[in-house]
Amino acid sequence: MSLEVKNLTAGYGDVIVLRDVSFSVPPESIVSLLGANGAGKTTSLNALSGLLVDVKGGTLLLDGTDIGQLSAHERVEAGLAHVPQGRALFPFMSVRENLEMGAYIPRSRAKQAQTLEWLFQIFPIIKERLSQDAGLLSGGEQQMCAIARGLMSQPKYLLLDEPSLGLAPIMVRQVMSVISTIARRGIGVLLVEQNVAQALKLAKYAYVLEHAQVAIEGPAEELAGNDRVRKAYLGL
Ligand SMILES: Nc1ncnc2c1ncn2[C@@H]1O[C@H](COP(=O)(O)OP(=O)(O)O)[C@@H](O)[C@H]1O
Ligand SMILES: [Mg+2]
Repeated sequence: MSLEVKNLTAGYGDVIVLRDVSFSVPPESIVSLLGANGAGKTTSLNALSGLLVDVKGGTLLLDGTDIGQLSAHERVEAGLAHVPQGRALFPFMSVRENLEMGAYIPRSRAKQAQTLEWLFQIFPIIKERLSQDAGLLSGGEQQMCAIARGLMSQPKYLLLDEPSLGLAPIMVRQVMSVISTIARRGIGVLLVEQNVAQALKLAKYAYVLEHAQVAIEGPAEELAGNDRVRKAYLGL
């Protein structure tokens, strides 16, 4: 049981962005995918969720099922949800309508009311903002809304692309705390972050992408003490 990427080679047209990249996310845990701007983190998430990327080789397994040939929609049905970089909310739709968009597959739509109640426990702020336009929320609230929308499909695994980007420190802490709650509630989280210090505090295990490959990997606390990681990513 895990979300597993084996020997993924992918890019755009003839440009190879990822070469032979392997990583895995066990259930109910947080794994972080790190790397500089342009290292291929978003490309990795897009390859997993079946968006835009040209996958040239490799295997994608969700709890043992090969999802590599499935459409993006079918991958959501299989239990994978993606919260994209930049959040991609519909600003002129209410928070409730945005959340409903996340429950478009039949299995999730049938349980929409229950899932909403479950989400209100994790994100009390969402309940208060339900009828407001998503575009009127603060940056942190928008990120919470985007994560909540991802959870509306009732995924087994959640892909989070730069959830703390552009947020004030207090909101970063709130978003991180929500992410650890989500993992405790039984969802495996693949966390892409530029905030390496925060990501290593939260994650159990981490991978660092450099030059299209996994350059370093290990338990998060080990990476936090790794000289190369400290110099290149923690500014120490
Ligand atoms: N749609 C695209 N078409 C062509 N090249 C792209 C596209 N998206 C990203 N790239 C390139 O792929 C590389 C990896 O980008 P990305 O996965 O977005 O990195 P990261 O998320 O780690 O910052 C970069 O060199 C970027 O310019
Ligand atoms: Mg990115």
